[in-house]
Amino acid sequence: MKVPLLDLVAQHATIRDEVQAAVQSVVDRQQFIMGPEVAELERRVAAYQHVPHAVGCASGTDALLLPLRTLGLQPGDEVIAPAFTFFATAGAIHNTGGTPVFVDIDPVTFNIDPAAIEAAITPRTRAIVVVHLFGQMAPMERIMPIAARHGLMVVEDGAQAIGARRKIDGQWRLLGELGTVGTLSFFPSKNLGGWGDGGMMLTNDAALAERLAKLRLHGGARQYHHEEVGYNSRLDTLQAAVLLVKLAHLDRWNAARRARAARYDALFAANPAVCPPKVDPANEHIYHQYTIRVERRDDLLAHLKARDVGCAIYYPLPLHLQPCFAHLGYRRGSLPVTEAAMDGVLSLPIYPELTDAQQDAVVQGIAEFTA
Ligand SMILES: Cc1ncc(COP(=O)(O)O)c(C=O)c1O
Repeated sequence: MKVPLLDLVAQHATIRDEVQAAVQSVVDRQQFIMGPEVAELERRVAAYQHVPHAVGCASGTDALLLPLRTLGLQPGDEVIAPAFTFFATAGAIHNTGGTPVFVDIDPVTFNIDPAAIEAAITPRTRAIVVVHLFGQMAPMERIMPIAARHGLMVVEDGAQAIGARRKIDGQWRLLGELGTVGTLSFFPSKNLGGWGDGGMMLTNDAALAERLAKLRLHGGARQYHHEEVGYNSRLDTLQAAVLLVKLAHLDRWNAARRARAARYDALFAANPAVCPPKVDPANEHIYHQYTIRVERRDDLLAHLKARDVGCAIYYPLPLHLQPCFAHLGYRRGSLPVTEAAMDGVLSLPIYPELTDAQQDAVVQGIAEFTA
């Protein structure tokens, strides 16, 4: 049985008429740039994430870039980030003039290790980028006091974590609520994905929100007047229209992903060779990825691919070992927990429309291999 890693066609079939009507309405009005859907989506996502301000932008990458740009980083200024993440996390640091300082992760959740953050702080440190990887939040209650002690900006890269929650002091908290700024990606494969690129920045800070809103519009709130040099990084009206439709389904979709994850967990309980993902007890996971650890991972990957079961390695080469960062001097061995993850992880198909039969095919394919 063919099991794709992700099946956006199956998702689209469930909302086809709704989303096409929303898109047609934008087409009929022809207001493709900063149409009313953009502000409406900003309002709705802000409410969804429990923050007062949300600013749309062109991608999850720009959502990281714009806040870092407000720091005015000088050569030698350092920004701490995990190495076990998508490239954009560090690309944004480099492209705003900073030097990424890569730190190790927690072996259980794959999220940045707060103790490693503390150990990496120097007089040149200006910010920390926290990634809420695979859909569960990093321990913000441990990270924010470190940042406060050293006066550092905290950017929460939430590209994979829209709707994820963490219980802190008895209260559910979402990304963007505690950091200086939280970021979202609407890349099509994300839990809330558009029909192209898109991103958003979330913050409690009204002045920062205003600055970010300018930076995405060439640095000026008023057309043809520019207080600073910014970017063309607007969220497209068509994307906002698609995302408004999809946002109404997101809670149900995230719950369906959790149900699929629970079913995988139950099925894998019979297979000691598979280490399923672990959820920090304080977290509610949204399972952007369901990532197992397994011995002979590369052989298993080939075995599953040969059976038409989609799976992928996130991430095969951590950022500290990327050729473009060779000048920073990291070597294999620099970040042992990250490197162990790189060698052992495998992400399996997980999405709301995944059927029991497809899921059984994934589990059976793995069982054949590990037997
Ligand atoms: C952790 C992380 N950060 C940043 C990004 C960048 O988002 P985008 O592709 O929308 O630029 C992604 C997704 O691709 C991501 O997974």
